[in-house]
Amino acid sequence: MNDVSTPIAPVPRISIQAFCEQADTHGILSNVLGDRRMAKAHMKIHMGGAAAAVEAYRDAPTPNLIIIESSGDKRLLIEQLDMLAEMCDSGTKVVVIGRVNDILLYRELIARGVSEYIVHPFTATAFVRSVSELYGNDTSKLVGRVIAVTGAKGGVGSSTIAHNLAWTLSRELDQPAIIVDMDLPFGTAGLDFNQDPAQGVADAVFANDRLDANYIERLLSRCSDKLSIMAAPATLERLYDLNEDSYDNLIDLMRGAAPLVVLDVPHSWNGWARRALIAADDVVLVAAPDLANLRNAKNILDALKPARANDSRPRIVMNGVGMLKRPEISIADFTRAVESEPVAIISHDAKLFGTASNNGQMIGEIDAANKVTETFSELARLLTGRHDIRKPKKNLLEPLLARLGRKTG
Ligand SMILES: Nc1ncnc2c1ncn2[C@@H]1O[C@H](COP(=O)(O)OP(=O)(O)OP(=O)(O)O)[C@@H](O)[C@H]1O
Ligand SMILES: [Mg+2]
Repeated sequence: MNDVSTPIAPVPRISIQAFCEQADTHGILSNVLGDRRMAKAHMKIHMGGAAAAVEAYRDAPTPNLIIIESSGDKRLLIEQLDMLAEMCDSGTKVVVIGRVNDILLYRELIARGVSEYIVHPFTATAFVRSVSELYGNDTSKLVGRVIAVTGAKGGVGSSTIAHNLAWTLSRELDQPAIIVDMDLPFGTAGLDFNQDPAQGVADAVFANDRLDANYIERLLSRCSDKLSIMAAPATLERLYDLNEDSYDNLIDLMRGAAPLVVLDVPHSWNGWARRALIAADDVVLVAAPDLANLRNAKNILDALKPARANDSRPRIVMNGVGMLKRPEISIADFTRAVESEPVAIISHDAKLFGTASNNGQMIGEIDAANKVTETFSELARLLTGRHDIRKPKKNLLEPLLARLGRKTG
């Protein structure tokens, strides 16, 4: 069994028919229906158990996956499965849900071609994981964690936080990370990393069906040995009226491209932005402490809730807190209103952030000892559930070497 924090790949476009015996199983599977990773699959839930399944497929084609609940007699179940096997089209898989944790039964079912035996009680998320793994998305294949970062309002620093978070993740987890800059006309990932790539995310979005893993590799530009960006064109020669599903293919393929994927989702509420927030394993919502941010943060949390019922809530990051002379809503009042404690609070620091932004550098490169650098590490740790995160070794010569490197490079 997998670590529960391992991301689950989306279930492909398959048809599923479930035949429950008990109302509580029906309840769990109803929660599965609303899971974001099941968005492409078509699932129907019936009652009646194995007998109803045998009846249903007497003269109807079988779906890709049949789920049978059986809590009764073992012999009867085997008999019913044998009958079902005769009716099943090739390629149809069968999963059995049972109430006894019996290894002999498990072996017997697997020997009869059953793909998986799930023991009741189980969670909706565990069920989705089993189905996802059944369709090739197992742990032997890379399933990257997708973290979407967006702002409750424009200009609150969500891109800055997305980029610094990805940079921190790649360094401290020592794993490849990719930033996808979804702000096609105005994105700043290229600027923030001092890169000027010719191609990037626009080519990926407009490539549609031609997009594959190789194509993606060509659209990435490397910022360090572990961090790459898929930059936005940030030009206004064309309009970027995207469809709701424009990013679907890219986000799916991204999971196979790197273990960590950070989506820099611009502050907007349209089909593709909402879809990206729903599809992500984690959502980071950046907000400044004012009234408009508070209202918007609350609305975004409410809007995402039904589609992410089996997921962690979006994490709130308060940014730009304590700006001189600015009247602000207190963190306590903000927390109370959005019913969610911020996972990080970042002070307003015009000099630090301004220097980073002007130099095309990350905060950790400007000032590794700064509290903000530590805050990004904590956020990285929280999002990946890693407690063994590597503390960067302090090298007293590092700032000097970095400066020398830049001059000669
Ligand atoms: N804590 C902070 N203190 C001071 N300046 C900050 C802070 N965080 C971000 N900034 C600055 O605020 C500006 C806007 O940041 P950024 O582009 O990340 O915002 P955004 O939310 O992505 O904006 P947009 O809505 O345009 O996408 C940048 O110049 C950035 O350097
Ligand atoms: Mg931005």
